[in-house]
Amino acid sequence: MDKKKLHVALFFGGNSSEHDVSKRSAHNIYDAMDKDKYDVSVFMFTKGGYLLGNKDSMRIFNGEDEDKVVAEIVPKVDFSNPLANIQNISEVKNIDVFYPVIHGNMGEDGTIQGLFRLLDKPWIGSGIASSAVSFDKDLTKQLLTLNGVRNTKYLVVTPENQEEYSYEKCSAELGKTLFVKPARQGSSVGIFKVSNKAEFDRAVRDGFHYDFKLLIEESIEHPREVECSVLGNRESKASKLGAIRIPETDTFYDYNNKFVDASGVAFELPVDLPEKLAAEITQMSLDAFRVLGNRGLARMDFLVDQNDVPYFGEANTLPGFTNISLYPQLWQVSGINYSDLIDQLIQLAIAEFNDNAKLHYDFVELGEEKLSK
Ligand SMILES: Nc1ncnc2c1ncn2[C@@H]1O[C@H](COP(=O)(O)OP(=O)(O)O)[C@@H](O)[C@H]1O
Ligand SMILES: [Mg+2]
Repeated sequence: MDKKKLHVALFFGGNSSEHDVSKRSAHNIYDAMDKDKYDVSVFMFTKGGYLLGNKDSMRIFNGEDEDKVVAEIVPKVDFSNPLANIQNISEVKNIDVFYPVIHGNMGEDGTIQGLFRLLDKPWIGSGIASSAVSFDKDLTKQLLTLNGVRNTKYLVVTPENQEEYSYEKCSAELGKTLFVKPARQGSSVGIFKVSNKAEFDRAVRDGFHYDFKLLIEESIEHPREVECSVLGNRESKASKLGAIRIPETDTFYDYNNKFVDASGVAFELPVDLPEKLAAEITQMSLDAFRVLGNRGLARMDFLVDQNDVPYFGEANTLPGFTNISLYPQLWQVSGINYSDLIDQLIQLAIAEFNDNAKLHYDFVELGEEKLSK
């Protein structure tokens, strides 16, 4: 390994429904990284949660069948060892920067960020608490509401209060048509649009397969779905805005038109919106990034109603990153190309790490003082 080069580790895969998207994102990032500047290692989490080493992850990168590689390795792993799932972590000792390219569970929710924190090296994207809060739609909305960022009205249903929060009660407060969604999911998995008691009850029952906390949200009818990419640390900037148009016959942007058959979905990059609306969405994106304590990158999603009122939808702290994904494409149309964007994210990770290193942690001294008493 060349000492002058930064050694970057890409993590990809994972056990969310976006495993394959993550694989494509990581592959695109790998290809775009300037190998004169970076040594790059790759580590894949299998769908079962096992961390493959660099060599085997590379085999998958180079086109070998994933199931075949995994079947070859995983049965040989000694799962009586509690660290079996992450034993290959010892391979990361010479890494300078960690780059999680894992969407959803474990990657976007603060879990892997905790591992990077323990390893005491810079990583791309938000910190532990910021990732966890941004991944939880209820906590996100609470923080945004406290800080004046408009979002849809909602109630939280749990197995404990389920009897009290009937369709009658929720619809009396939020309207006849409601969205039922797990607080900590993604990819539209477990989301239902309902407008009567039977649909509501079924959605709540199914929703509890994904999370014990469900959001019941007022519905924005025929919304425009608008996105904004944010880049930075404590100071950040927003890209031009983009919009997603789903076919008129579809009810909402669900798992099917997102991942199964996206042929009817159109993207407008950038989208031409009334000046006031665009300015408001841009400001809300920057406000949300600050309020949620995001770092590096986040794609902010909005729903705009028929009267051009924008509602904050969700923050995606590790958005899709293939070269046709919205996050990088919005920067592309805003003047930052794909590989420059990766360079900037790496620099932001290092800057954030150095910034935090300046903080004083007094507890060591306090601890010693207590011990000497
Ligand atoms: N309150 C709402 N009103 C109208 N449509 C909604 C609402 N909430 C969600 N949707 C639809 O469901 C999609 C997925 O919801 P979202 O909250 O973004 O969850 P996910 O994290 O799964 O993407 C949105 O893109 C939108 O099409
Ligand atoms: Mg979404």
